[in-house]
Amino acid sequence: MLAMQDLLLPVTLLVLVVGILLRRARPIKEMQTRLAAVKWGLVRDFSAALRQEVIVTDRVSAHHLLVRVGAGGAFCNRPPTSAASFVLSRQRHHNISSAPYGSLWRATRRNLVSEIFHPSCLRLYAPARVRALRGLVADLREQCTSNDGVALAAESMHAAMFGLNATMCFGDDVDAGLVRAMADNMEELIWSVVGMRVFAALPALTRLIYRERWNKLVALRRQQEELYLPLINARRGRRRRPSGEAPAYVDTLIDLLVGDGRNSAYGGNAPSRKQTLTDGELVGLCAEFLGAGTEPLTAELQWIMANLVKHLDVQEAVRREIEAVVGLEADEVGEEDLGRMEYLNAVLMEALRLHPSVPAVARQVMPEDHVVLDGQRVTAGTIVQFPLERLGRDKTTWANPDEFQPQRFLAGGRGYGVSLVAAAGSAGEIKMMPFGAGRRMCPGMGVAMLHLAYFVANLVREFEWTEAEGEMVVDLEPHVEFLNFMKRPLRAKLTLRNKGARASGASSDP
Ligand code: HEM
Repeated sequence: MLAMQDLLLPVTLLVLVVGILLRRARPIKEMQTRLAAVKWGLVRDFSAALRQEVIVTDRVSAHHLLVRVGAGGAFCNRPPTSAASFVLSRQRHHNISSAPYGSLWRATRRNLVSEIFHPSCLRLYAPARVRALRGLVADLREQCTSNDGVALAAESMHAAMFGLNATMCFGDDVDAGLVRAMADNMEELIWSVVGMRVFAALPALTRLIYRERWNKLVALRRQQEELYLPLINARRGRRRRPSGEAPAYVDTLIDLLVGDGRNSAYGGNAPSRKQTLTDGELVGLCAEFLGAGTEPLTAELQWIMANLVKHLDVQEAVRREIEAVVGLEADEVGEEDLGRMEYLNAVLMEALRLHPSVPAVARQVMPEDHVVLDGQRVTAGTIVQFPLERLGRDKTTWANPDEFQPQRFLAGGRGYGVSLVAAAGSAGEIKMMPFGAGRRMCPGMGVAMLHLAYFVANLVREFEWTEAEGEMVVDLEPHVEFLNFMKRPLRAKLTLRNKGARASGASSDP
């Protein structure tokens, strides 16, 4: 009898052939004045072969589609996601990122932005940020004093960021061992899902073919529920928090009411009965918060520090600015100091332009959308991709676009005054969009910029970052998976600068 694995190759070929035939039936050559290319998906993601896909690389079209068309409420849906929560719930549990443009998306996104990401609330997490920074500095210090100066910076940064996000998500009394277990579970889950992207479009078929991998995914998701649900339930039972105490993200989700018809694109505009979120949705939203808050941020932090290792003059200029703004005696660069650091901001912008940690933004044209490009209506079902690194390295916008030159964002440079938010009324072009654009742009941009600035400034203040040797050398080669990672995770030689700093930071309260 044939095993399922034996059917894998013939089924894959069949799907590819059908895909080719379907695609031939819908040529999109005419659009190519502005759309740079049409590409095949990887075989691993062979469902892509079934869909028509266009890639937009010019910034005027990007602005038109994402911002202008999006402002009218069209072109606001993403293609089906492979997020574990969505796939394993047979496409019932959405998070913000996977939700169709409708009432669930509106309610959950508004909740995130107006509750814990509201500036007045974000300020309340300052003590958690200080604790995360001190823990990270203590860890790096220990590594570099016991390992010939070399630190596995990537892993330490990831642990610090995940811990900080766990505090923002579940409150500050989560046991450290539990946080590590959540981080391990998240990592395994992400890589299992990445290896199985095809689930998103052909779940039933791939569930049959990859039975073992499917079972592993189910087990990981179950473990995730076992880790998160007790924390969620503990927050349900709590008394109202005293004013001045930071809420946890999960507190805001527990109270949230969402209308019926939540999972349909454009659904939920008519008056409907409101319901609270299910346990499955709560777990999915918490997982999104932890994943989206940690992964692209840690990847970006590595790109920034790697560039500072490669450009010691830039690193020294950041340090000079820090000393000018906070002085030599200050304990740390405080959050209130960051707004006065123009050069630091220029370094972040330049790293985000050259190495956006999210490689592409995607939208899917829905039957209701009227999307016209170059005089042609784009067929429903088409997936439109916007590759962010290419858009940020456009030769018509930037001189020497492939070079790391933060000064281009200072007064007199072409990047001076560039905003990361391309608003509907903006000039009709996008110069860079590392956080996406339009209605679905990243709601975490403000917190991400705050965390990047705070950690980069303080890491530069605490240590001199230089190149280690051999296997540990800093390599700016990217490895693009679901994120734009450094091919070699960041390792660096660190020299302590601030010898009088606290000996053990992780446990001391600010
Ligand atoms: C350097 C860090 C980050 C980068 C580069 C980044 C980038 C992006 C990009 C490019 C998108 C797609 C936008 C679009 O489709 O137009 C996105 C979406 C999203 N990001 Fe971020 N992000 C970062 C940090 C965060 C953080 C800290 C959070 C919050 C926990 C977050 C939560 C989300 C969510 C929920 C979405 C989906 C939004 C929606 O569909 O409405 N991100 N991000």
